[in-house]
Amino acid sequence: MSKLTAVAYQECINPNCRAQFDCAQSIFKCPKCGELLDIKYNWDKIAVPKKLSDFAARWSSRNKPLDYSGVWRFREMINFCDDKYKVTIGEGQTVLQQNCGLAEQLGMKPDCLFLQYEGLNPSGSFKDNGMTAAFSHAKMVGAKSSACASTGNTSASVALYAAMCGLKCVVFIGSGRIAFGKLSQAMDYGAHTIQIQGDFDDCMKQVQDVCTELGLYLLNSLNPFRLEGQKTIMYRIIEQMGWEIPDWIIVPGGNLGNSSAFGKAFAELKELGLIKKVPRMAIINAAGANTLTDMVNNKKLTWNGGNVNQAVIDAYYADLTARKYSPHTCASAIEISRPVNLKKCLRALEVTNGIVRAVDDAKICDAKALVGKYGFGCEPASAASVAGLELLLAEGVIGKNERVACVLTGHTLKDPNVTVNYHKEKQGKWSNPPVECPNDLAKIIELIK
Ligand code: F0G
Repeated sequence: MSKLTAVAYQECINPNCRAQFDCAQSIFKCPKCGELLDIKYNWDKIAVPKKLSDFAARWSSRNKPLDYSGVWRFREMINFCDDKYKVTIGEGQTVLQQNCGLAEQLGMKPDCLFLQYEGLNPSGSFKDNGMTAAFSHAKMVGAKSSACASTGNTSASVALYAAMCGLKCVVFIGSGRIAFGKLSQAMDYGAHTIQIQGDFDDCMKQVQDVCTELGLYLLNSLNPFRLEGQKTIMYRIIEQMGWEIPDWIIVPGGNLGNSSAFGKAFAELKELGLIKKVPRMAIINAAGANTLTDMVNNKKLTWNGGNVNQAVIDAYYADLTARKYSPHTCASAIEISRPVNLKKCLRALEVTNGIVRAVDDAKICDAKALVGKYGFGCEPASAASVAGLELLLAEGVIGKNERVACVLTGHTLKDPNVTVNYHKEKQGKWSNPPVECPNDLAKIIELIK
């Protein structure tokens, strides 16, 4: 079948290349020019619902696994493989929580703040949205072994899906750079866990070479099929808002897979006439891992119709190498200085009229404690979105009457160390340390009164 006439195909994002490949290939970077690949659809060959609310019909057939999945019930929008290959473990049963208490605390109109809690996924993070799609592709191409580099959540999710699909699994993590909750998952799910003496960026480089050398199936967000699954986080947000579009989506930025996927989701919905307006997106880095913020706000890097100024990126990374720079933040999930999806993210910023900010660790920890106080809680990287919201409210960029959805990417129990230290060491204004007390009834009562 000619690629252009297939329902779905892969296409290089470089406007001077635009090479196309069959979805049956597992390549992850354009073999011609080395750029990132997109999954593209010939929409006229797909029975896309006339209106988004038509998807809601699937809620009534939740006994069928693909209708139950919060990813595959939007399957017309991620139509790259036959149902027989689709792998689902009930991912995407997540909640958009309208959080009046936190909104008021932040000085917003109470009904304006929404928290999309992706910690409710089977492995406890948003990654499962992507893995269900990527592992379906892995099955479609007959992969036997899988691999990823990770700051923790990707490894947990890959290990879980690999175990469910019967694939072998190798995960690369930076030694000492991963939260214990996540490491414990990779080991429990049976992954071959390799701790590299380096950071995430070192692992990311190694895993690509290992995958090429040994023919392993790569599950990092370089994998365009993974990003297709992550688009559904946006569908679920607008679904829960009655198919209305918020004014803002705020998301933490690490390897920039989510932000890239979200931009693609809205560009496609707009192209299909399923939405009238695209929300603005704010991407929040940790100050200790702020490559995107620096490149966009200071170096003025833009998508520029796909002709991204590569010289700026090369010079930036050469400087990081020369300084032996390694990123550092307590939000270990986003401790990344060479984000692989940088260019797709620049495109998403253009689609969404987006902005980028960085917040420091103290602000991240305070925001995390507030989310815990008013919501389901979240891990540190996730709280960057709320810390970013605070900053943007203070700057006057986001108005207190605007409707904002913050994506809480990972479960609160992923990284208990950061939480316990924050409270015990009285690090911030919401610290709530435990109190020591003798084993004595009168003294206990005295303390509580
Ligand atoms: N939040 C959490 C909890 C994450 O685990 C990650 C990324 C991000 C945000 C950033 O998302 O990469 O799409 O910009 N974690 C990856 C991992 C890198 O290996 O688990 P992104």
